Amino acid sequence: MINLLIDGEDYRLQYRRSVEDPEGFWAGVASGFHWHRPWDKVLEWNFEKPQVRWFEGGQTNLCYNALDRHALSHGDRIALIWEPNEENEEARRWTYWELKEAVVRTAGILNDLGVQAGDRVCLYMPMVPELLWTVLACARLGAVHSVVFGGFSARSLADRIADAGAAYVVCAEQIRRGPKVLPCRAVVEEALSLLDNEQENPVRKVVVQGRPHHKEPLCSFAHTECLDWEDLWHSTLSRPEPRWMNAEDPLFILYTSGSTGKPKGVLHSTGGYMVYTAYSFAQVFRTRPGDVFWCTADIGWITGHSYLVYGPLLQGATVVMFEGIPTHPDPSRFWKICQRHRVTHFYTAPTAIRALMVYGDAPVQSVDLSSLQVLGSVGEPINEEAWLWYHRVVGGERCPVTDTWWQTETGGILIGALAGLSALKPTFAGLPLPGVQPVLLDPSGRELVSTDPPTEQEGLLAMRFPWPSILRSTWGDHERCRNTYFSPFPGYYFTGDGARRDAEGMYRIIGRVDDVINVSGHRLGTAEIENALNLHPMVVESAVVGYDHSIKGQGIYAYVILRTALKDSDQETEDRLCRELSETVVREIGAIARPDRIQLVEGLPKTRSGKIMRRFLRKIASGDTAQMGDTTTLLDPTILESILVGRKG
Ligand code: PRX
Repeated sequence: MINLLIDGEDYRLQYRRSVEDPEGFWAGVASGFHWHRPWDKVLEWNFEKPQVRWFEGGQTNLCYNALDRHALSHGDRIALIWEPNEENEEARRWTYWELKEAVVRTAGILNDLGVQAGDRVCLYMPMVPELLWTVLACARLGAVHSVVFGGFSARSLADRIADAGAAYVVCAEQIRRGPKVLPCRAVVEEALSLLDNEQENPVRKVVVQGRPHHKEPLCSFAHTECLDWEDLWHSTLSRPEPRWMNAEDPLFILYTSGSTGKPKGVLHSTGGYMVYTAYSFAQVFRTRPGDVFWCTADIGWITGHSYLVYGPLLQGATVVMFEGIPTHPDPSRFWKICQRHRVTHFYTAPTAIRALMVYGDAPVQSVDLSSLQVLGSVGEPINEEAWLWYHRVVGGERCPVTDTWWQTETGGILIGALAGLSALKPTFAGLPLPGVQPVLLDPSGRELVSTDPPTEQEGLLAMRFPWPSILRSTWGDHERCRNTYFSPFPGYYFTGDGARRDAEGMYRIIGRVDDVINVSGHRLGTAEIENALNLHPMVVESAVVGYDHSIKGQGIYAYVILRTALKDSDQETEDRLCRELSETVVREIGAIARPDRIQLVEGLPKTRSGKIMRRFLRKIASGDTAQMGDTTTLLDPTILESILVGRKG
């Protein structure tokens, strides 16, 4: 188990130790887990290659550490509470013993299908318990899971399946999300057809969970067999033991957007991810046995991986998993769930807080939230108004709010308040966790050194030393990993974020400095959306930027040049075309990437060398048009005026 820091002084001591003797520090933390074989070397690293290896030679299994270990010592403790989409349906509960049994049986299903250690298994499912079981079943077998968020389109799913070379897909018949019932198996079938046509379908077997009693025959593809979860659940006799994996064996791939090209498969490995997610969960949230931790993120995102599944279960906590959305059937749903399950620790995204704030205090005050002790925020900068409302109305001014900064690539929280221990400052994520060594760089890559006396500084956020759950590679393309994260500033891991550090050393994250936008806490590459728009036959070129959005954090603004201009007066045709363009993006990527605003333009502000000056487009999108700044580098500055005239907003 992990020893919790006891006070601010302990934090300072442990932090210093983690910097002066990282190997000793992390060996101490790692010894709280079950290792089948101890490690030979704690850390080897080289950011140039990049290559980072933690606990080399050690063998362990995350499923064993998350379930079997607890099932043996306190098997009757509740591990999982599942709250269905519909409020009038009963929640379901599993003790650690029962959850282990369910996961072992799921591993039996995968085993019978032929899943081997190292095989990639793609999961495309709603927030049902079977998703969590399958994630852990993969870990038990040493198979590499690749969870794809259920809101992604068939095209996005197909690309992720092909890139990972997944021979197995586990999906559900449908996805219940609030009042909607969305197709799930049908999307998988469409993805498989796309892959069959492109002759790169690696999928051999598909398992479909949650099929109706009157079963229609399952799809059939030339090379892909489709099977029914229920049938397999009842027929499997195998009960696989955990397979002992090397610390550096891959654990999972999770696709995330960057500033260029298609999403990349961030690769996390076994030992370091286990140690860091459990450590960061324990230190930041500081749960005690009996506490109920609810992370509202979907398992399709890194937050769900690290703080719904792995971190809390490794620590033996009780987790809540919710199938639905915060506003169904009404905007008090989140709070009613907190009341019903006596949630003590609540972890959500600023977008959800802002969306619920709109309904005022009444839906919160109509329920008893006295069980709450700690509130967390993740995924995007939290504005002061939302922070204060969260603290005052939801937390009754008694619960610390921890704003946690991290990324898919970091695997776990790197900067954030330790609940109840750290000083809180709205909009500041705070201090780094022990073992985390952030720096601020200037654009030329020089570290901004703390001044004496310290003053506030602003720069590019980078890390100068590895922590155990740093990404190991991008699947199938190590060069891309180097170019994206390690080449921009040699010797550092570059986060892509800008940040400010105050005189006390607390960090405030400003936001992305690259062409990545954060919409409702979901990360999207502007290039991805442009590529989707450009597929429409009428489109010649497009440019997408983010703009401040009161609920989503950032909205998507698309500027589009058409092949042939529409007649000025024809508003109806323009509206229809914009709807078509939107649908193209939804079809290619998914509804999360639907543009909020589309403006048809005659040209884009470009330099003489043809580079789009996005700075101007961002200003116009945000309505910040009083001072456009220096436009002399533009090939045709008059284009800005015409864009300004047609601005949407
Ligand atoms: O810009 C930062 C923002 O989200 C990015 C990472 O996105 P993703 O990999 O999808 O992971 C999100 C969940 C960990 C970061 O580069 N971000 C994340 N947390 C915060 C944040 N921005 C400000 N404050 C945060 N607490």
